[in-house]
Order: sequence, then structure tokens, then C-alpha cells
Amino acid sequence: MTRGIAVYPGSFDPPTNGHLDLIERGSKIFEELVVAILRNSEKSPMFSVAERLEMLRELTAELKNVRLDTFDGLMVQFAKSIGAKCVLRGIRAISDYEYELQMALMNRRLEPRLETVFMMPADKYSYVSSRLVREVAQAGGPVKALVPELVERKLREKVDPAYKLGEESGPDTTRRRKKKA
Ligand code: PNS
Repeated sequence: MTRGIAVYPGSFDPPTNGHLDLIERGSKIFEELVVAILRNSEKSPMFSVAERLEMLRELTAELKNVRLDTFDGLMVQFAKSIGAKCVLRGIRAISDYEYELQMALMNRRLEPRLETVFMMPADKYSYVSSRLVREVAQAGGPVKALVPELVERKLREKVDPAYKLGEESGPDTTRRRKKKA
């Protein structure tokens, strides 16, 4: 195991199975992995930072060397403030490479002592992105197996707030059965 702290920064809006796969892989090679959610993203997020934190908290509860945090401004400054030596980023396909390379080189220019480490998620997640997951869920499509069950439930609640009411009144509600008919 590599000694020292690594930071895995991202938007995680929402966390996908690809993110989780990378977190698990990262937790095996770094002493401590800090999953850090960017707070001041320009994009209008689907989930608030608090909601994303809550989801990630549940999803990473078993991984004892994984810690969660949020950050604003430059990622390299955040990494420095927590004593991280490495930044972990995932590369799914060659299409990710250009952007990731640009970001890694810019980060190196900003903080030469911080190394970016790229890892590949399992190939079954190579096409999974938060953006596509949001798009499919918003259009009412299935996202099972692309995101953890917890995230799938939260996506449904966002898209159809009535789903939550059904959940609250018991797992097998007539409301949902009626809707399917
Ligand atoms: O999950 P994402 O949206 O691909 O993550 C991108 C993220 C958050 C890692 C990146 O946008 C970032 O680090 N933003 C913080 C601002 C910063 O440091 N910008 C300079 C990076 S070159």
C-alpha cells in the first residue's frame, strides 16, 4: 500500500458504480483516500452537496480508509491543505484522456509536488457517467446496475417526488402497482 493521502476530487452528481469502483481500487493502494466533492461547480447540480455527501457516506461506510470532504476553489490548494501527495482520477476511455491530461498538467503547473494517478474502472462501467445517468433517469429510463441501489432510489425521488411518498407509506404500495397497470 502506498503511504500517504490521496484525494479523489469530482462532482459526483450523482455517484455512479464507476466512481464506487474507483474508490474501492484507490482505497486498496493508498493509505487514506479523501473523496472530495467540488462545492462551487458552475453547473446547476441535480443533487445538493449535502445529498451527495450523504449518499457517498452510506456507500463508503465499509471502507475504513476512505474519508469524505468538500472543497471550493483550486483542487491543488485543497490537496495541500489536507497533506495529500496524489490526486486520483479515473479514465474510462480514450475520450477522457485529453481533458484529464490537460487537467493533470495544469495541476502539476500549479503544484509540482502533487502527482496525478490515473486508474481505470472495471470495463463494464466504461460508458457510465453521472451526466448520462442523470439524462436517462430524468427521461424515466432504467439506471439499474449503473448506480448503486441507494442512488437509483434517490434519482427516482428527484424525478418523481410522489415516489418518495409511496416509499414512506411502505415498500410495496398500491400506488406504484396501480401506476404500472
Ligand atoms: O467529476 P468532474 O466534474 O469531472 O470533476 C472535475 C473536478 C472537480 C476534479 C475539477 O473540475 C476541479 O478540480 N475543479 C476545481 C477547480 C480547479 O482546481 N481547477 C483547475 C483544474 S485544472
